[in-house]
Amino acid sequence: MRFPTFRLDGKIALVTGGGSGIGKALALGFANAGAKVAVAGRRVERLEETVEEIEKLGSEGMAVRCDVTRKEEVERMVEAVVERFGRIDVLLNAAGVNRRMPSEEVPEEVWDMILDTNLKGTFLCCQAVGKVMMRQGGGKIINIGSLTSQIGIGMISPYSASKGGVLLLTRALAVEWARYNINVNCIGPGYFRTEMTQALFENEEWKRRALRRIPMRRFGELDDLIGAAIFLASDASDYVTGQIIYVDGGFLAGWTGGLIEE
Ligand SMILES: NC(=O)c1ccc[n+]([C@@H]2O[C@H](COP(=O)([O-])OP(=O)(O)OC[C@H]3O[C@@H](n4cnc5c(N)ncnc54)[C@H](OP(=O)(O)O)[C@@H]3O)[C@@H](O)[C@H]2O)c1
Repeated sequence: MRFPTFRLDGKIALVTGGGSGIGKALALGFANAGAKVAVAGRRVERLEETVEEIEKLGSEGMAVRCDVTRKEEVERMVEAVVERFGRIDVLLNAAGVNRRMPSEEVPEEVWDMILDTNLKGTFLCCQAVGKVMMRQGGGKIINIGSLTSQIGIGMISPYSASKGGVLLLTRALAVEWARYNINVNCIGPGYFRTEMTQALFENEEWKRRALRRIPMRRFGELDDLIGAAIFLASDASDYVTGQIIYVDGGFLAGWTGGLIEE
């Protein structure tokens, strides 16, 4: 019998979007579990702040500037991480963008920017790191989906389409790459306060309405996501692939039935 440890000692992780919000929290979660962590994004100073915090946790970090919408930058990022650490055991794709507006007003450039970052960017990172993982005999890929991987949400149709795509990309890669010992899974966060959701969280009316929809009656704290990410990054999830774990306070579980207060 092999008992799982939920530790990541000796593992190398690459986290896109690691300069802020969910990516940063999960990069620190990986470092605290023993991994060395490279963080990528466009704002280098934010990445360097994350690296400092990784080092305070007693681990090693690396900041790599990369725009995930650009294939050549993604390839250079992966080369730089492999050059420094020798391998990549865990890829967590948290780089993402969103814009809120009525669908009939979405400019074509906004659609392209959201799909290019959230869906194509995730694919390019999976593709470049997937080749490294194939060579080294396996690895774990974790994509960040959303409630909109499961349901449509108004005023964010390009984002919903991109995150629905991220889930199906996850499943397609999972079935294709299982033979290479690469597990590909997804985390679907509910509502968390970050730069991306700042405007929502400043809107008291929105907060009141949204909380009524969340069975646990609270928004997520960034550290609520760490357990699911460590599980999917660690040996504990070796037989899990193509799945999504929603960390959403029960949002997608259903509804009260209407006979008790929502
Ligand atoms: N907050 C929530 O409630 C929530 C819920 C569900 C899903 N999510 C998802 O969680 C992920 C992280 O979002 P967040 O909430 O933590 O917001 P955030 O703080 O705005 O994080 C987004 C990160 O993505 C990076 N990024 C954006 N475009 C990029 C590009 N072209 N290339 C490389 N990096 C890029 C940003 O860094 P730079 O600007 O420096 O590049 C930033 O660090 C996103 O995929 C988001 O869709 C968030």
